[in-house]
Amino acid sequence: MMNYCFADDLTTLRLRVNTFLQQRLQTFDSTPAPLAAAMRYGILLGGKRLRPFLVYACGRMLHADLHTLDYAASAVEAIHSYSLIHDDLPAMDDDTLRRGQKTCHIEFDEATAILAGDALQAFAFECLSEVPKISAEQKVALVKALAVASGGQGMCLGQSLDLLAEQSAVSLDFLQRIHRNKTGALIAAAVELGFLCSPHFKNHALKQHLIRYAQAIGLAFQVQDDILDITADSSTLGKNAGSDLALDKSTYPKLLGLDGAKQKAEQLIVEAKAELQDLEFNTEPLLQLADYIVQRNN
Ligand code: IPE
Ligand code: IPE
Ligand code: MG
Ligand code: MG
Ligand code: MG
Repeated sequence: MMNYCFADDLTTLRLRVNTFLQQRLQTFDSTPAPLAAAMRYGILLGGKRLRPFLVYACGRMLHADLHTLDYAASAVEAIHSYSLIHDDLPAMDDDTLRRGQKTCHIEFDEATAILAGDALQAFAFECLSEVPKISAEQKVALVKALAVASGGQGMCLGQSLDLLAEQSAVSLDFLQRIHRNKTGALIAAAVELGFLCSPHFKNHALKQHLIRYAQAIGLAFQVQDDILDITADSSTLGKNAGSDLALDKSTYPKLLGLDGAKQKAEQLIVEAKAELQDLEFNTEPLLQLADYIVQRNN
């Protein structure tokens, strides 16, 4: 990969997963119910597509087939988009703006938003059941990795702990547990899915390095999200700035201050990159993604 340009790669892979998702979701027909429209609204309109990027970048580095990776990238994005739709509901963060548009429950209604999230979750596993050109063993491993990262030992657990930690003073360890689960788990799953789609899927030592890289950038990602809630404006973010302050969420800036949170994020990126140091693959895209996570402004 001579003259690698991260920004171009991110754009290309974003378009790639968007096209794939669009094609698969256009066959969903819920007439006369709004369900299919709400699913497409929640997943197709906007989003940085960082999790799909991680699936593609990790898988491609390990010589997985790109068309195989389309299915895994779409599955992770479907879980992520469902988690955002539910995260914005009045019972959770009660937000009105997402990806630069009205949140799903405002554009449609609460029941439709709940169902759209549920249906996107099912869609994710449907995608994984159809991944081409890999063994049945790899497919089952993909399903398990995404299920564990999404559920009661992953994203949902983190979301539940996050709600519990509103208006209270939690320890740094507890906050780390929230963030590692609500955000880190799915980011780590994106890397793991890329790995599992590759011919190296039985290389345990390689997997450990990649997972530790992913866990570090995953935590850094949520620390930066907490920082941006304070430092960015709503139009740049495409979501309501100041939402954490309004709900008195437990966040890194609340516990460490803004500078302390920034230092923590930077330190995690150093740790993440160190995990890639001795890998005999082209790690450039994953290294640059790590930097992007703390440099991004939305
Ligand atoms: C936002 O994720 C929610 C978190 C887990 C912090 P992203 O910042 O990746 O949101 P999109 O997908 O780009 O909209
Ligand atoms: C959400 O964290 C994590 C999810 C699992 C969706 P936040 O509540 O901080 O995400 P935003 O800021 O609303 O995107
Ligand atoms: Mg939340
Ligand atoms: Mg939120
Ligand atoms: Mg946030």
